[in-house]
Amino acid sequence: MVKITVCIGSSCHMKGSRQIIEELQYLIRTDNLDDNIELAGAFCMGKCGTEGVSITVNGEYFSLKAEDTKKFFEEVILKKIS
Ligand code: FES
Repeated sequence: MVKITVCIGSSCHMKGSRQIIEELQYLIRTDNLDDNIELAGAFCMGKCGTEGVSITVNGEYFSLKAEDTKKFFEEVILKKIS
């Protein structure tokens, strides 16, 4: 099980965290991975200064730009499942 947490604090919200969550939900559903991936929101992770939205995957921190979500899903998240 891969646990993804996306920051929904105000700074990350401005950078597109809602868009990232919606896209991840869509990708998870399309790939039928509901049983493999848990998606959650979290309040400010204390890293508002980074360029992208704060996100953790199994506790590992990433700064993700909304436009890179699909690539991130394929290159980082799917690799952790297989
Ligand atoms: S609002 Fe996301 S890290 Fe602060």
